[in-house]
Amino acid sequence: MITFENVHKSFGPKKVLQGVTLDIPRGESMVIIGGSGTGKSVALKSVLGLITPDSGQILVDGQDATRGDHDAFLARFGMLFQGGALFDSLPVWQNVAFRLLRGSLKRPRSEAREIAIEKLRRVGLTPDVADLFPSELSGGMQKRVGLARAIAADPEIIFFDEPTTGLDPIMSGVINDLIREIVVEMGATAMTITHDMSSVRAIADKVAMLHDGVIQWTGPVADMDTSGDPYLTQFISGSAEGPIEAVR
Ligand SMILES: Nc1ncnc2c1ncn2[C@@H]1O[C@H](COP(=O)(O)OP(=O)(O)OP(=O)(O)O)[C@@H](O)[C@H]1O
Ligand SMILES: [Mg+2]
Repeated sequence: MITFENVHKSFGPKKVLQGVTLDIPRGESMVIIGGSGTGKSVALKSVLGLITPDSGQILVDGQDATRGDHDAFLARFGMLFQGGALFDSLPVWQNVAFRLLRGSLKRPRSEAREIAIEKLRRVGLTPDVADLFPSELSGGMQKRVGLARAIAADPEIIFFDEPTTGLDPIMSGVINDLIREIVVEMGATAMTITHDMSSVRAIADKVAMLHDGVIQWTGPVADMDTSGDPYLTQFISGSAEGPIEAVR
């Protein structure tokens, strides 16, 4: 569904992606891990066509993001942003239904509200939450609203950027399980970026580790602990000792 072919991207002298090649099959859940500043967000933005690679190609279902109708292209995606990124001035239901209230996915207002309430229910929130504002919610509830918004337009492809950052371990577990369930029931293709190894184990079919501008290791999540790859092993264990230099 998503293929990276030898993708390079630099910013001035700074080489970020230096030949990324990766396949994300339709209906599978790929989790991308890697240290801070290794280019995970750059890779994600490149899929959406928000950043254009210097060379190489990214295809989504055979289509290049940098060509053709970008609105139609983006309509196929849902995204859970790091930190929720809800609109403070809009009530919860209008956040969830944001894309259903405007643009190519526009629906009548009452229908958009009904869909929002149904999606809120799907993520474990009751209809009374619909008329609250984001500032009236806890962090975990905000994450759920962000998740409801990501799935509101029934996307074929969903991106999750750091879905559990800032949540306690139990709420992280709940959100991880919810993401896994939703991805399976929608049959969506998912790409998640995370530092949280519990998310990796809960969400991933496959894992890819980005390091030094390339995919250092990729494989099924079940092979992660016995990969024999020193970079991956160090990352999983969180050890300061190993080939990845920790900046102190
Ligand atoms: N638009 C941009 N212009 C210039 N440099 C950029 C731009 N976007 C990203 N970078 C640089 O690319 C590098 C990778 O950034 P990126 O945000 O992809 O890291 P990341 O792997 O997502 O890290 P983190 O885990 O901390 O979110 C960083 O050095 C960053 O400064
Ligand atoms: Mg990032």
